[in-house]
Amino acid sequence: MSNSMQEIVDGIVTGSLDDAEVLEWLSFVFENGLNNNEVVDLTKSMRDSGEVLEWPEESANLVVDKHSTGGVGDKVSIVLAPALAACGLKVPMISGRGLGHTGGTLDKLESIPGFNIELASKQIQTQVGKIGIAMVGQSENLVPADRRMYALRDISGTIASIPLITSSIVSKKTAEGLSALILDVKYGRAAFMQEREDAAALASSMVDAANGMGISTTAVLTTMDQPLGCAVGNALEIVESVETLCGRGPHDLEELVCVQGGLLLTSTGISENMEEGALMIHNSLNDGSALEKFIAMVDEQGGDGNIFDSDMSMLRGLGLLDSQLKNTEIFSEKSGFVSDIDAMVIALACCELGSGRKKLGDSIDHSVGVIIEAQVGDELEVGDSLLVIYHRENLPIGMSKSLESAFTISDDSIEVLSKVSEIIR
Ligand code: URA
Repeated sequence: MSNSMQEIVDGIVTGSLDDAEVLEWLSFVFENGLNNNEVVDLTKSMRDSGEVLEWPEESANLVVDKHSTGGVGDKVSIVLAPALAACGLKVPMISGRGLGHTGGTLDKLESIPGFNIELASKQIQTQVGKIGIAMVGQSENLVPADRRMYALRDISGTIASIPLITSSIVSKKTAEGLSALILDVKYGRAAFMQEREDAAALASSMVDAANGMGISTTAVLTTMDQPLGCAVGNALEIVESVETLCGRGPHDLEELVCVQGGLLLTSTGISENMEEGALMIHNSLNDGSALEKFIAMVDEQGGDGNIFDSDMSMLRGLGLLDSQLKNTEIFSEKSGFVSDIDAMVIALACCELGSGRKKLGDSIDHSVGVIIEAQVGDELEVGDSLLVIYHRENLPIGMSKSLESAFTISDDSIEVLSKVSEIIR
């Protein structure tokens, strides 16, 4: 493999390398890996295969984004982006759709009636200049090399390669013209990486590549054994995000937002350290400024931000929550302390209800999902609520039992641990 990364990426984009040749190269990288310099060269060439966003000089050092490797109930981006904008940063956030058991930010946003995630680069730049935030899908013009590489990786079993994942993710983020980046790398039974060491290796590789391209980058290793927050399902997660933007969110979600926001505010020099930055983010959730940014974004992108000014019961009438849905509550048959909630069981049930897709292009039901009523650490009596399922059809046979089995109830009280496990710089 003596070709330079630039030649290979050129061959991928122009088609001068045919599928068999690209597959041969992907398999070589999958088997042998790449060194750090090669990963940076590959990532740069991929970034430059398409358009790279540019920002006015006065704001260029404030442009930031985050990437999450994906989890169950992971709505951090929807809260974090407006909170960052409220603290003075510029956030052109480009996100993806959900696939398999993990949800996607775009699907969640599209549960807001009228919300348009397809903005051209010029529109993203104008909107970010005006209100500090845009949340959109990836355009055809950004990193075209990744589209062909990803499709070929998918059919050849070469997805799970650290250099290929790194270059795929970091090229797309760096094409946004960022100054700083935060990576939320999850591990655990409902994460893409189940083992902590694998997540740490991926995090270090992405941090090195993005830093090597001049973007101040930090990764947070976070656990994904239990769902994040209480809501799982697209529209339900928007409601929980808005609650969090009003300072009423679940503790684990708010903590991840504050830590990741605090790190980005530090990377851009707005705060002295993570603690000070986290406090700024926390304040933006409690003084209404983050919610204001979210509402301004919804208005700019075709929705009606006023629906989030009203109390939540009105959201049903206004179309965010579907009043046609059935709901079924599951109760505890045991007393004791909730010591675990299996995120994978919850995620697979939500997928089966229609909230997720098995393959790209499948349609989804934005309204279905679950609200977890009993959190890890809670003390329960027999008959207390565990969760409420929002569903359209009759519940599939066995789903209630399966969801009940997601909860482990123990005799002894347990210490509730932070989901933040390590910060990697
Ligand atoms: N997400 C991406 O965008 N690329 C990968 O390779 C894996 C996850």
